[in-house]
Amino acid sequence: MSELHAIAQQMVQKGKGILAADESTGTCTKRFEGIGVESTAHSRCAYRSALFTSPGLEEYISGVILYDETFRQNVAHTDTLIPQYLQSKDILPGIKVDTGAHPLEEGSNEKNTTGLDGLGERLGEYYALGARFAKWRSVITIGEGIPSEKCILANANGLAQYALLCQQHHLVPIVEPEVLMDGTHSIDTSFDVTSYTLNTVFNVLQEHNIDLQGIVLKPNMVLSGYDCEHQANVEEVAQRTLECLTNHVPSDVPGIAFLSGGQSDEDATFHLSEMNKSDTNWNLTFSYGRALQQPALKAWAGKEENVHATQAALLERAKANSSATL
Ligand code: 13P
Repeated sequence: MSELHAIAQQMVQKGKGILAADESTGTCTKRFEGIGVESTAHSRCAYRSALFTSPGLEEYISGVILYDETFRQNVAHTDTLIPQYLQSKDILPGIKVDTGAHPLEEGSNEKNTTGLDGLGERLGEYYALGARFAKWRSVITIGEGIPSEKCILANANGLAQYALLCQQHHLVPIVEPEVLMDGTHSIDTSFDVTSYTLNTVFNVLQEHNIDLQGIVLKPNMVLSGYDCEHQANVEEVAQRTLECLTNHVPSDVPGIAFLSGGQSDEDATFHLSEMNKSDTNWNLTFSYGRALQQPALKAWAGKEENVHATQAALLERAKANSSATL
């Protein structure tokens, strides 16, 4: 098996999932504001060090997605670089490499993700520093008259060019076309937009000769928009999501690691668990940011004396989601 295939399999192995801790400085600062903590390189490192040093985290977590700043920091109070520390725990270090979602064109409320400039060089450097996979997030918004075909195609092209560069640099690309869950749309609209998006993404990946056995797909689940009057229940979400994936995701893809997208911690776990009651072509697991970190962040509250409580909160969510993959 090629190195890429082996890493992709390791990322989505049964019983484990991925911790997304790759918030950009801006996003991390917003999260810290929510708990009244000043966001500095030091406080971000302290918080993330608390997460990563949770005892036994490796039982539930196969990989962690890091942001560039974190990739170059030492674990708090040690001389060990964070990626090396994770490797020593048999957790794969990953790196967010896109540079964010920006207006598709002037005045547009649709977005396109940037980050291709100099990407090959950056990937080579990250691999040398220990990264074994990467992440690029595309954002598709549902609203009045959107998404447009143009937006979906532009984002699919970005994902494919990124994926090709990753594979050329021996990194497994996490391909993340996120259809946002915000809005008043119904689950049917989410289903249609997610179907069209996944279909376009896989067409373009195949045109670029991406080795599908060496990627991990990170999609949204198909659910009712958060402001929709009728909220689909857990069974319906699981059924529609699986139907959508079965129709559009080739079975060569080894695994699907969902984003949580603003669902409550419990909902994200229930939905994953429900889907894993069915037999599927791929391992279905999690690559959650908020749904793994929310309780931990609250417990931490910026205080060193809360490290144990932070870790207990993270481990509780990690364990619950690990069970949901089984
Ligand atoms: P959420 O699980 O908070 O949606 O974040 C996952 C992620 O990595 C988005 O790119």
